[in-house]
Amino acid sequence: MPYRSPAAGLLGIENLTRAEIQTILDRAQHFQPKTGESFPKLDLLKGKMVVNLFFEASTRTRTSFEIAARRLGADAVSITAQASSVSKGESLVDTLNTLSAMRPDAIVMRHAASGAPLFLQRYLETPIINAGDGTHEHPTQALLDARTILDRGAHLEQLKVAIIGDIAHSRVARSNVYLLSRYGASIVLCGPASLLPRELTHIAPGVTLTTDMNEAIRDAGVIMMLRVQLERQHEASFPANEYFQFYGLRLEHLRLAKPEVIVMHPGPINRGREISSEVADSQRSAILNQVENGISVRMAVLERVLLGATNNAGTTH
Ligand code: NCD
Repeated sequence: MPYRSPAAGLLGIENLTRAEIQTILDRAQHFQPKTGESFPKLDLLKGKMVVNLFFEASTRTRTSFEIAARRLGADAVSITAQASSVSKGESLVDTLNTLSAMRPDAIVMRHAASGAPLFLQRYLETPIINAGDGTHEHPTQALLDARTILDRGAHLEQLKVAIIGDIAHSRVARSNVYLLSRYGASIVLCGPASLLPRELTHIAPGVTLTTDMNEAIRDAGVIMMLRVQLERQHEASFPANEYFQFYGLRLEHLRLAKPEVIVMHPGPINRGREISSEVADSQRSAILNQVENGISVRMAVLERVLLGATNNAGTTH
């Protein structure tokens, strides 16, 4: 098997420069629909084929990769692990080699093992786009989060962002820490002590930890709430019935934040567990804007991966 540079796909935010991130965000803005219109139907990726291979549950990410590919004129096929030969005992490498032999132009992949896409990319001709690997990275989520913050008129450089919840198991938190720290944002990670990994503070000087939700939210311009990822917790790390009392976002918390604070959540949300319905449905909530931006950001990422990073440089608006 030939060894190829992992740069071909998109495996994480960690290895992207601020300029590369900005190019994707600008290009995503270019793909956003005008108010009241639907996403543009283009033929930039006409003749290209994208395979979505999801070994974990997904509503938003898989659908929006599929829509993004089609909006750019590519064909998209989605496969879930339950419906694939993985359930017949085929190894991950064999599954990926089989799909690769059908010559798709990119494989979008979600897997429960951190590092699975990086491992596979070393042996595959086909570029891999990471749609979430274990507790490691979820690059397109961080990109769509940044696009959403910018759309609300905030500046990433001067921003205080509170990321609250199950930080330890969150690939969304990790990718956001990489991205936001490139811009110099100050990032407060907040949750029960058992779910706050100290190693994330080593990523950038602006990253701090607290178990106190009020402290995290005070003067924040963005509050990102995270789901408690019980599927990744092998033993109880906090009393589940007290979680909402200490780490659930309620309307009264918003008074501590900046008046223009944006409340975000990657979804799926659990109302009454990490966020109250009043907050999730409030004017401050950008949760559905995040979903919408998932399409334009994934259009920008697919274009970059399938046509090459240099092709769209300079054409951004
Ligand atoms: C997130 C994920 O899968 O990492 N969801 C998503 O992609 N929108 C977060 C989560 O599952 O809680």
